[in-house]
Amino acid sequence: MGRVRTTYRCFECGAEAAKWAGRCPGCGNWNTLHEEIEAPPGAGDHGAPRARARPPRLTPAASAMPIGEVDVAAWMPRPTGVPELDRVLGGGLVPGSVTLIGGEPGIGKSTLLLQALAAMAASAQRCLLVSAEESAQQVRIRAERLDALHPRLWLLAETELPAILTALHEVGPAVAVVDSIQTVFDPELASAPGTVTQVRECTHRLVRVAKERDLAVVVVGHVTKDGGLAGPRVLEHVVDTVLSFEGERHHALRLLRATKHRFGSTNELGLFEMTGRGLQGVPDAGALFLADRRPGIPGSVVVPTLEGQRPLLVELQALVATTSSTIPNPRRSAQGVDGGRLALLLAVLERELHLKLANTDVYALAVGGVRVVEPGADLGLALAVASSAYNRPLPDQLVACGEIGLGGELRLVGQTPRRLAEAARLGFTTAVVPASAPDPPPGVRVLRAATLAEAIDLVGLRPNLSQ
Ligand code: TYD
Ligand code: MG
Repeated sequence: MGRVRTTYRCFECGAEAAKWAGRCPGCGNWNTLHEEIEAPPGAGDHGAPRARARPPRLTPAASAMPIGEVDVAAWMPRPTGVPELDRVLGGGLVPGSVTLIGGEPGIGKSTLLLQALAAMAASAQRCLLVSAEESAQQVRIRAERLDALHPRLWLLAETELPAILTALHEVGPAVAVVDSIQTVFDPELASAPGTVTQVRECTHRLVRVAKERDLAVVVVGHVTKDGGLAGPRVLEHVVDTVLSFEGERHHALRLLRATKHRFGSTNELGLFEMTGRGLQGVPDAGALFLADRRPGIPGSVVVPTLEGQRPLLVELQALVATTSSTIPNPRRSAQGVDGGRLALLLAVLERELHLKLANTDVYALAVGGVRVVEPGADLGLALAVASSAYNRPLPDQLVACGEIGLGGELRLVGQTPRRLAEAARLGFTTAVVPASAPDPPPGVRVLRAATLAEAIDLVGLRPNLSQ
């Protein structure tokens, strides 16, 4: 028998290093190497060789067959009973699959999954919630608040993997949630709880059990401060679906998307609002962000963005103010919009329109806690900045949609008609679009512009031209 080995492993990419270093030799990230103790081969059932064990089998007894004879009936998704979650999953959870859901602490992962389990339990499926972070009492109290006390919903507060596997065997659920994978550990592994080896091995075991028992498993994963799922990338490869639950802590809105999905599209967006009684789906999101909009304010513009397949109308605001800084270093603030994109647009506005922005602070934001980072929002953002700089409001019923190139030229973005149709549905009558835009849907008049300067003139922003 060899001796116990200490190595260092990267949380981000899973790379191994013999010595600790500030920077991972694999992915180059800083401070991601953590100590791992690996047992030698033969030390217990779950020693180090598992790390290189073969991947789990996809079916209990796989054998080759003509592709047309493969039975897919068992792989049909089953609805979770939470429509916005089902929308993102393309129908629901697939038996035998493993889904990883990531999100910042407090965003509502446990709440969402408890609501989904209660809904599935109500539709006659036995469900098991494994809480490895909160006590059974805490979960029960939350379940009372969410009206989720259902006899078919079973609860286990446990962190040790063998006990969890035993419970899965005894309870025999159709769906199981493990909250969270980072707090689950296998005592037979030499590594400490929460290490890469533990997280990876425990996930592998759950994947195997899911396939063997035709059980849909959902595991909760913590995210790092830059938004990635904590744990090695390999976790994302092992599971079938990776969901990300996002939102601004100070806003009630929550967005759910799939970043990987073996059973369907990753284009769908789920929208929820966190309320006093859990998460409520937002089926008609079109005007969600426009509820408190005040027309007639300089620096405000509405853009028809596309989140996955879902058109959303979002108000972008900009404020251009004389800088209070004495050094030539004005403030640039971007909330919910891309800071790099804002800097680029400011440079284009300076060059193409001779707007003097060098001595002004510029604040830009997307209203409502949503993030609008697609290039289709360029034109809207540039118009918002110009509107504030000229101190003139844009017309109320106007939307703007287009990408801006470095030369100030406007480019068409994908699915423009669909975006404009949503704008029309919500009562917008005019759209500024690139010259190449196709004919608009009924109800919308388009102002076609080849450049940003043309767009600014068409909407009457430049004082000298419109007076
Ligand atoms: P939680 O689901 O525990 O988040 P996560 O599992 O992602 O860490 O949700 C935590 C927050 O949600 C908490 O700050 C309280 C809030 N909340 C509500 O506003 N309403 C509710 O009905 C519930 C259950 C939670
Ligand atoms: Mg939680």
